[in-house]
Amino acid sequence: MRGPKVPEYMHKVAIYVPGKPVEEVERELGVTGIVKLASNENPLGSSPKAIAAVQNALSTLNRYPDGGGYVLRRAVAERQRVDIDQVILGNGSVEIIEMLSRAYVEDGDDVVMSQQSFVSYEIAVRQVNGNAIAVPARPDRGHDLDAIAAAVTGRTKLIYLANPCNPTGTYFSRAELEAFLDRVGDEVLVVLDQAYLEYVDKADYPDGLQDLKQGRNVIVLRTFSKIYGLAGLRIGYGLATPEVIAHLNRVRSPFNTSSLAQVAALAALDDEEWATFSREHNLRELAYMHAELARRGVRYTPSVCNFILAELDADIKTLFVEFQKHGVILRPQGGPGLVNCARISLGTREENDKFLRVLDRLVLNA
Ligand SMILES: Cc1ncc(COP(=O)(O)O)c(C=O)c1O
Repeated sequence: MRGPKVPEYMHKVAIYVPGKPVEEVERELGVTGIVKLASNENPLGSSPKAIAAVQNALSTLNRYPDGGGYVLRRAVAERQRVDIDQVILGNGSVEIIEMLSRAYVEDGDDVVMSQQSFVSYEIAVRQVNGNAIAVPARPDRGHDLDAIAAAVTGRTKLIYLANPCNPTGTYFSRAELEAFLDRVGDEVLVVLDQAYLEYVDKADYPDGLQDLKQGRNVIVLRTFSKIYGLAGLRIGYGLATPEVIAHLNRVRSPFNTSSLAQVAALAALDDEEWATFSREHNLRELAYMHAELARRGVRYTPSVCNFILAELDADIKTLFVEFQKHGVILRPQGGPGLVNCARISLGTREENDKFLRVLDRLVLNA
C-alpha cells in the first residue's frame, strides 16, 4: 500500500450516506417518476423570492462572494435582534457543526449527544479524534436530557441537542430545556440545533435564541435548507456570543458560502408568505400521514417536523430497494433503537398517497 497513512482515528469516521437522488435511482432502475421522500426537503419547491434573487445575481459569478456575508448576517442579526458579530454563516448548518469540532474539540475530548439523533454530530467529532458519547434515547425516542446531563464530565466540550430531532421527529419543551441548562451549567457549550424550528406548532417549544439572550452558554443553529427550500444552495447560520463566533471564524474556510446562496437566503428571510404556505402544507400532511399510518396499525413516532419515523417490521435494506422499484425513495435507518425503521419525509399529497399505496402493497399486503 502506498503512503502516507491516514491517522488511525480516521478509520472510525463514518462516510455520510445521503438520501439517494431521484436521477440516480431512475438511472439504476431504468424508470421515471420516482418520488423522493428521503432528505426532509421542501416538496413544494423554493421560496420564489429566493429564486428571483438568484436569477438577478447570475451576472456577478465572476466575483468572489462577500467572504464575511455582511449583508445577510446584518439581515439575520436585525431579524433575530442580536449583534452582527453574533452571527456566522455556514455552507449548510452542517458546516458549522464541523467548525465547532475544529474550534473546540481536541484528542480525547468528549462531545455528548442523543444516540438517535443527527449522524453528522458524531462524524464531525470523530474527524478531530474526539469521543462521541451517544446517550440512549428514552423509550418514546425523545432526548433523555437527564441521562445526557449525567454523561457530562470534565472532558466534555460540547453537547448537541437536536430540537426537534432528526430522525425521530421528537421535541423537548421549554421547561425541560431550562432544567437541563440549569443542571449542566456554564462550562460546556450546548448546541441547540433548530433545523426544523419553522415547522413546529407547539406552544411549549423552546426557541434557543431566548436562552442565548439570557446569557446561557448556547449556540443556536438554523438552516435555509428546510422550510425555505434552499437545500441545493447550502446555507445555514449560527447564533452565539461574539466570543464563540470569533472562535468559529478562526476555523471557517474563506468564502465558505457562495454568492448565490447568500442572496437567496437574504430574499428567503423576507419571504414569510412562502414559510407560512410551506408550514401550513406540512401541518396538513403531517396530520394526514399520522392518521393514515395509525389507521394501518403501523408503529410510528409522533412527529413535529416534516418527516415521520416508522417501524416497518421487515428487513429495512430489502424493503428500501423494493420501495425504490415501486417508485419511492425512503431513508432507511439502523443502529441502536432504529432497527427496521425508515424515515419518511412528507411530500405533496400525491407523493404521500403514492408512499401509502406502496406501503399497503409491500408491507401490509393489502
Ligand atoms: C437536525 C439537523 N441539523 C442540521 C442539518 C443540516 O442541514 P444543512 O446542512 O442542510 O443546513 C440537518 C439536515 O438534515 C438536520 O436534520
